[in-house]
Amino acid sequence: MLTIPLLLICVALCFPPSESSIDNSKANIQPQVTLRTWEQAIAMAKSFIAQLTLQEKCHLTAGVGGTCAGNIASLPRVNFSGFCLLDTPSGVGDGVLYSTAFVSGIHIAATWDRDLFYRRAVAIGKEFRGKGIHYGFGPMINMDRNARHGRNWEGFGSDPYLSGENAFFYTQGVQDQGVVATPKHYICNEQDTHRSGDNDDVVYSANLDDKTMHEIYLWPFASSVAAGAGSIMCSANEINDTRACQNNKTQNGLLKGELGYMGNILTDWMGAKSTVDPVLSGLDIDMPGNDGYFGDTLVSFVQNGSIPESRIDDMAIRIIAPYYLVGQDQNYPTVDLDRNVMGNNYIINREASRAGMILLKNVNNVLPFNSSIDTNIYIYGQAAGQTTCGLEQTAWNANCGGALYQGGGSGFVRPAYAIDPLTALMQKGRDDHLQIRYITNQNDFASINRTFNDRGFQNAKCLVFISAWSEEGVDRTDLYAFDNGEQLVLTVAQNCRQTIVLVNSVSQLNLERWIDHPNVVAVLWTGTPGPEYGSALVDVLFGSYNPGGKLVFSLAKNDSDFGTDISPMGDSNYTEGVFLDYRHFDKYNITARYSFGFGLSYTTFSFAKLDISQANDDDDKNSPASLYKQRRMRPYNNFGHSGLYDPVYTVTFTIQNTGKYYGSEIAQLYLGFPSEAQEPLKILRGFERIYLEPNELKEVALVLSRKDISYWNVINQQWTVASGSYTVWISTSANNADIKLQSSFNA
Ligand SMILES: *[C@@H]1O[C@H](CO)[C@@H](O)[C@H](O)[C@H]1NC(C)=O
Ligand SMILES: *[C@@H]1O[C@H](CO)[C@@H](O)[C@H](O)[C@H]1NC(C)=O
Ligand SMILES: *[C@@H]1O[C@H](CO)[C@@H](O)[C@H](O)[C@H]1NC(C)=O
Ligand SMILES: *[C@@H]1O[C@H](CO)[C@@H](O)[C@H](O)[C@H]1NC(C)=O
Ligand SMILES: *[C@@H]1O[C@H](CO)[C@@H](O)[C@H](O)[C@H]1NC(C)=O
Ligand SMILES: *[C@@H]1O[C@H](CO)[C@@H](O)[C@H](O)[C@H]1NC(C)=O
Ligand SMILES: *[C@@H]1O[C@H](CO)[C@@H](O)[C@H](O)[C@H]1NC(C)=O
Ligand SMILES: *[C@@H]1O[C@H](CO)[C@@H](O)[C@H](O)[C@H]1NC(C)=O
Ligand SMILES: *[C@@H]1O[C@H](CO)[C@@H](O)[C@H](O)[C@H]1NC(C)=O
Repeated sequence: MLTIPLLLICVALCFPPSESSIDNSKANIQPQVTLRTWEQAIAMAKSFIAQLTLQEKCHLTAGVGGTCAGNIASLPRVNFSGFCLLDTPSGVGDGVLYSTAFVSGIHIAATWDRDLFYRRAVAIGKEFRGKGIHYGFGPMINMDRNARHGRNWEGFGSDPYLSGENAFFYTQGVQDQGVVATPKHYICNEQDTHRSGDNDDVVYSANLDDKTMHEIYLWPFASSVAAGAGSIMCSANEINDTRACQNNKTQNGLLKGELGYMGNILTDWMGAKSTVDPVLSGLDIDMPGNDGYFGDTLVSFVQNGSIPESRIDDMAIRIIAPYYLVGQDQNYPTVDLDRNVMGNNYIINREASRAGMILLKNVNNVLPFNSSIDTNIYIYGQAAGQTTCGLEQTAWNANCGGALYQGGGSGFVRPAYAIDPLTALMQKGRDDHLQIRYITNQNDFASINRTFNDRGFQNAKCLVFISAWSEEGVDRTDLYAFDNGEQLVLTVAQNCRQTIVLVNSVSQLNLERWIDHPNVVAVLWTGTPGPEYGSALVDVLFGSYNPGGKLVFSLAKNDSDFGTDISPMGDSNYTEGVFLDYRHFDKYNITARYSFGFGLSYTTFSFAKLDISQANDDDDKNSPASLYKQRRMRPYNNFGHSGLYDPVYTVTFTIQNTGKYYGSEIAQLYLGFPSEAQEPLKILRGFERIYLEPNELKEVALVLSRKDISYWNVINQQWTVASGSYTVWISTSANNADIKLQSSFNA
């Protein structure tokens, strides 16, 4: 258990986010929120439900119709005004007006910057709170196990540690604003094909072993429970042939038992299929609730003894406790979904947008552009301009095209405005006296061909925009770009000696048809960058921002290299076990095109002086271990009593900026376990994004917790530190060729 003393009731103001940044408005973003411990919140919930009748308690367990996507009914007799629950993980969605469409989960993950994870979540939480919404449905923490999964863009990539850190700081950012975070979808919702079995479809069962469950899929949920999440959404699929929302092993066993989770579990939409089974296996809330399985129906099940009343009390306490946990009993705004809450959140959104862009290729430093020299710019591709569908709730299908700000489905936030690359580049052209020509109809090869004969074309820089979109409910059919983007790249590259490709993609893409073309001199992965896309892109292309994002999945040379795929059948057997993504590539000596964790910068860095010591945080408030804890500490945390999250080792080293631009490097700690642990060659267990002036040198300290150096022991059913030698690699990607420093310790 973390042991830093702290005020039991704390106003969020006492945890200002660390690090300076361009967001000067951040001092204003903390409302006065009363945050409580779980013990306090549960005590208050118990005294609240003591005044309720059985029927009133049952009433809380099912959603009702109302203004929000999900609504917990009010109980006027006791002056309880109910709860409003709404999507999405990247901003207030479900078609509301006046909310910020934030960069998506996969994009913020690519920043590898915990302060940005937190500050984006604070801004999201602030908007939910501003509209009077009690629960925000996010973070989305299913793993990017299948490159074609339609919802990968909502989540945090293919590594559980990276996803877990995102889950933690997302939960913290949102709950610091007094909004209940709802990590989802619990659990193993790694494909949308056959995800629910509704409408006469078959439902898939994720079949996986205990070690894989703990070390990969449960890991980010465990992180969000430790952070203190008040609610968790169960998924529609099955695990080992039992529905997630009525799975006693995953809900009562793993989540409420092993992880000691004290909040509620609510269904993904229509995730309940009956009454007794789900109730007895741990489900607390049925959403949207109109199926009659929960709510008032439960009364007769209690009266005839099918469900003990103590379980109804438990459900009601779990439903009410999060309300007190994050102080919703004090000064919470009334619900008004169209209240304008955007404020200056575009500032943090723009910062996150450019920080998550990834420079994959930059031959002879063709980027950044110098507008004194690079004055003749050609722009190709539908993905450079606005979508032809307009900024609608479910824009971007196969007929639309245009720049992608996010993916589609319930996770989509309709942007209140959006700045496309073409518009932003035009404005830059005006300001810097550039010559710009563009063609966004990428099938008009006659016009495209004509540009190649333009006067001055020989010195032109050609920007080719390609995209790949996906949405909830449908998995991608392949990993290629929309509307034959590959042909566009090749056509331009055959004629333009300085072709720069901008990849605006929801998740993995196969680059092989064009990546080795000698005229493709630069590639920038722009991800799903939100409505500040155009502004952020101009910052990066012209060097006012030095890109530093890193991939959160590998880009394979061959789709089959991943070794995992969507199952078209009723089973999805996770037979790869813990060998996901780079762990699989390591196992089979597969070289990725670009590895997990990879990304370039306009500057260069050197690493030195690796040192490993036991973490000692007893005295020194400024020791790495103390700082590690302070960053995570909140009244509502739930770290449990096993010491799993205690710091045990501190790994220090130096990084120096050896180039001429201000910029950042993301130092990644990969751990090699003793053979007893039966782990992949190396596993990500630490990272930090370090920003440095030219020549500046900083000492970096990464902290390993006991859990970080443990494996899941299936015999003892506990996290176990293996005996023997652990190898520590400090690297700039999961590619072994990028390892900078190596050492070891004996645990
Ligand atoms: C009911 O709640 C409202 C708003 O929180 C409060 O103003 C009012 O005093 C409460 N009434 C009672 C009877 O507690
Ligand atoms: C699923 O079945 C596998 C194989 O029997 C077992 O190892 C695992 O613990 C089961 N998991 C769940 C959640 O039932
Ligand atoms: C449900 O899970 C709990 C916690 O693991 C266990 O104690 C209980 O026996 C299980 N119930 C059934 C019916 O399997
Ligand atoms: C208890 O009551 C419910 C609701 O009326 C009914 O569906 C169920 O079959 C009853 N169970 C028993 C064991 O009588
Ligand atoms: C841009 O090019 C001009 C003209 O060659 C040069 O004077 C200037 O230093 C360059 N700017 C940068 C940032 O390299
Ligand atoms: C464009 O040029 C390419 C090669 O130069 C040629 O193969 C293609 O047919 C041309 N397309 C049109 C529509 O003119
Ligand atoms: C990709 O892998 C598959 C299966 O291993 C193989 O049949 C195919 O030839 C490979 N494709 C390429 C382009 O290498
Ligand atoms: C999944 O594994 C089961 C048990 O080994 C097997 O019967 C089934 O065919 C497998 N399903 C798929 C889609 O591979
Ligand atoms: C992978 O490469 C290493 C070193 O080159 C070699 O020792 C090992 O046998 C290879 N493994 C496989 C599965 O090819």
